[in-house]
Amino acid sequence: MQQESGQSNAPVVDTVLVIGLGLIGGSLAWALRHAGFARTVMGVSRQPATLKTALEMGVVDAVETDFAKAAEQADVIVLCTPLGAYETVFKRLKPHLKTDVILTDAGSVKGSVVKAAKAAFGELPQRLVPGHPIAGSERSGVAAANYKLYRDHAVLLTPHDNGCEAAYNVVSSMWEATGAYVQSLDIEHHDQVLAATSHLPHLIAFSLVDTLAGEPDNREIFEYAAGGFRDFTRIAASDPVMWHDILLQNAGAILTTLDHFSEGLSEFREAIKNRDSDFILKHFGRAKAARDYFSQVLDQRDQNKKRLASASQSITRDEVMAGIESVCRQDKRVKQLTVNPCEKKLVGKIRVPGDKSISHRSIMLGALAEGTTRVSGFLEGEDSLATLKAFQAMGVSIKGPRDGEVVIEGVGLHGLKPSDEPLDLGNSGTSMRLMAGLLAGQRFVSTLIGDESLSKRPMARVAKPLSQMGAAVETQEGGTPPMKVGPNEAGLEAIDYTMPMASAQVKSSLMLAGLYVSGTTWVEEPAPTRDHTERMLRGFGVEVLESEPTAGGFKRVGLEGGQTLKATDIDVPGDISSATFIMVAASIAPQADVMLCHVGINPTRVGVINILKAMGASIVLENERVVGGEPVADIRVRSTQLSGIEIPQDQIPLAIDEFPALFVAAACAQGETVLRGAEELRVKESDRIEAMAQGLLTLGIELSTTPDGIVIQGKGAAGHAEPVFKGGVVESFGDHRIAMSFAIASVRATDTIVVKDSDNVATSFPNFVALANELGMEIS
Ligand code: S3P
Repeated sequence: MQQESGQSNAPVVDTVLVIGLGLIGGSLAWALRHAGFARTVMGVSRQPATLKTALEMGVVDAVETDFAKAAEQADVIVLCTPLGAYETVFKRLKPHLKTDVILTDAGSVKGSVVKAAKAAFGELPQRLVPGHPIAGSERSGVAAANYKLYRDHAVLLTPHDNGCEAAYNVVSSMWEATGAYVQSLDIEHHDQVLAATSHLPHLIAFSLVDTLAGEPDNREIFEYAAGGFRDFTRIAASDPVMWHDILLQNAGAILTTLDHFSEGLSEFREAIKNRDSDFILKHFGRAKAARDYFSQVLDQRDQNKKRLASASQSITRDEVMAGIESVCRQDKRVKQLTVNPCEKKLVGKIRVPGDKSISHRSIMLGALAEGTTRVSGFLEGEDSLATLKAFQAMGVSIKGPRDGEVVIEGVGLHGLKPSDEPLDLGNSGTSMRLMAGLLAGQRFVSTLIGDESLSKRPMARVAKPLSQMGAAVETQEGGTPPMKVGPNEAGLEAIDYTMPMASAQVKSSLMLAGLYVSGTTWVEEPAPTRDHTERMLRGFGVEVLESEPTAGGFKRVGLEGGQTLKATDIDVPGDISSATFIMVAASIAPQADVMLCHVGINPTRVGVINILKAMGASIVLENERVVGGEPVADIRVRSTQLSGIEIPQDQIPLAIDEFPALFVAAACAQGETVLRGAEELRVKESDRIEAMAQGLLTLGIELSTTPDGIVIQGKGAAGHAEPVFKGGVVESFGDHRIAMSFAIASVRATDTIVVKDSDNVATSFPNFVALANELGMEIS
């Protein structure tokens, strides 16, 4: 046998023998002949007519009906028969094989090849390399053969443990000669994956057509069957013997996936019977998202085939699963953001998604109300969806979200039911802290859990005052989640609580618990914090009290327990925290002019506007109005040269979520920006001081951090909009606001910025990438 062919077109081997000249074998033989891979491509078939056609078409150089003779000449033998024939074929070949012959195949199940080879040879031949081209068609027989069939298609080789590398390389170069690209997979994994992606779909197509063919009105079914039927059942025209063998040879894996599929189908049956639109829409939506994801992957593969051929760069199974899962959640989650320096002017008019804080509260209060609450503009981000799901788990009927519309059938103050499972609040601190208060008033115990980031966040700030009210609250050592919350025998008592930190979450948690006490609960703020809970409670008909603070305090809010919430309609304005990324980008980018429509400008949230204006930003509020108790405006932002400032202390709670983006603004400002008194930033979704400092340093910004803040040396120069950031790879630490902050830095960067671990963008701003690109950024 000759080894590598070198650069010339000299054949790599003398004789390739293809056993079975159907579509697969015929196409392979023909492609090898076309490529000059072997001196002789020989075909074997039981059917004389097949051999005749193969010769006439030029599929093979020579044919042989005698197995023994054919085997004696062959250097590489490729089995392309139905799987059920493998053992017999191996046994017939065995006495006639050359010692260094390479055996391979093109079957759709790999475990069975190994089994057949062991049965025939006693042990696995070292030079056996099982293979499977991922190509084909519903057509069968040599007449359907096509020498281009494998071009740009994957071929999976599944080497066994004792396999020899030289044989693998020859088989690999054989498939490459057909124009295919080769990937390596382990045998068991191959069979599991193929059971789901190929074998089950064939089974379903065969079964559906067979069932319909047996219907009395089958003529009409086939006559009027539209494109869907045709698309879906194309593969039911495949070779029955081949597919019979595949099903039986991969029975274990197919049965597992079939059972799974049957369960899903039964659930759909029930949903149709019960007219359960929610179920159907949810699952169809998820399926569509998954299919769209596959289309993306396939498109990418088409573009990158050669690249993917290298195992180290191929998409791993975990990546695929993560990809599907992410699209299934209907968000536009990305593993990393790659942001090119912005070459276009940032211009346009957009509407950012609904306010996260208000969306959470709309579900909570809607659930506790009497009657039906309709929400529009609801944020379809992971955090607010976590709240929504938690209330569904407690027996509240909630329809949507669909285009931001949610309909909640309130169960009243005492209508929640215990969830069967712990309530998983994902990344959402707001859900956990507010719900801890609300659940403290129930007659049952709830367990609250969250993701890795939430599991590290401090909950003692609510656990402590709730315990003072008489709730039974447990956290982990160190005051972190999981949390257990429930009532004690005596029920809750009203308290008068002065918060040690300015936290709207703590205030809201205590007010929600306060709904369940007799008497008035008072909470005093050391500084103003967002007041969405108070506004929304009023919208639901609850009387919220205010009284003079003690010396040093800012405001005392109170609420008398036992009041009934009456359902109402809620229009959620755009989230100023999401708008912040665009406001900062438009301020620092050269020649930008952006309009942000329908943004909430609640005075307890406008710290970012006040701070940016103090830095010299051009921000104009237009069309100011009040919608559903919340002030709203359209915000126009144009580029200007910013100046560094000392951030006023009273603005910190009003801009608490906006600092990561403000740090990017500070880096582009002329002069130094100083932030102090913001230690809260260290216990957000990440330690936002540290996370931003690390990334800014990587991008070439000088700064120093303190326990409660940061000092940033702005690199902006008066009258210039030159880049201030270098390109580089930065971490987001899984924090949505860090990821988006570094993405917008690209508008003043010399080079590409890659933001790693950016999955969480969907937490608060699911269409961030799309909107930013619409305005002219280049994020992928
Ligand atoms: C929120 C309050 C703020 C904010 C968080 C949302 C709310 O937290 O950081 O993203 O919806 O009440 P603190 O009140 O704990 O500062």
